[in-house]
Amino acid sequence: MQHGAIPHAINDEALDTIFRAARTQNKWSDKPVSAAMLMAVYDLMRWGPTAANITPARFVFVTTPEAKARLKPLLAEGNREKTMLAPAVAIIGYDLDFPHILPRLFPNVPTMKDNFIGNAELIQNSAFRNGTLQGAYFIIAARALGLDCGPMSGFDNAGMDKEFFAGTAIKSNFICALGHGDPACVYPRNPRLSFDEACKIL
Ligand SMILES: Cc1cc2nc3c(=O)[nH]c(=O)nc-3n(C[C@H](O)[C@H](O)[C@H](O)COP(=O)(O)O)c2cc1C
Repeated sequence: MQHGAIPHAINDEALDTIFRAARTQNKWSDKPVSAAMLMAVYDLMRWGPTAANITPARFVFVTTPEAKARLKPLLAEGNREKTMLAPAVAIIGYDLDFPHILPRLFPNVPTMKDNFIGNAELIQNSAFRNGTLQGAYFIIAARALGLDCGPMSGFDNAGMDKEFFAGTAIKSNFICALGHGDPACVYPRNPRLSFDEACKIL
């Protein structure tokens, strides 16, 4: 189906920026990413929906040489060099302690937290599902504001949790390098499944 043939809510240039022309990056220019930009990405992505507004995603932005030195040994060998060269790296985690702030985040149903407390499997599934969704919103928000992204899951999760989330109930999900990529260093674009392969309309 020709997507461009139907009317859409944002223009084609915006759709290219967040999806069609956006590529996963492997090399970065020296152009820095400011704290103000990182805050702007969070400020935009936080409006993406989550179940019962649980918003479990938590972010640590690694930007300094000292913080990168803590990250480096935790990365899979093939991810190490490119991640160290990125101006900023977001560690995207999910907080298993989210039920305790639910009365503030979902005041329309003040008892919502009681559905979760004591149910470790529901907490884990909900935090991982919705935290991953928020990670995706994060990538799209970063692209919409003009950044390039390099998401990666090749790292030592337990080590990451110990190094960056000690003393909390936050678990690492994936990391996302941020900056301005070198278009010459992306891998060839791989195909995606067609509508008929991936979807059914019943
Ligand atoms: C959650 C996630 C984890 C990924 N992990 C890695 C990784 O550990 N190392 C790596 O080089 N690329 C990793 N990638 C990059 C993917 O291979 C890449 O985004 C995908 O092939 C699409 O590429 P494109 O955006 O250029 O089309 C990861 C991507 C995502 C979304």
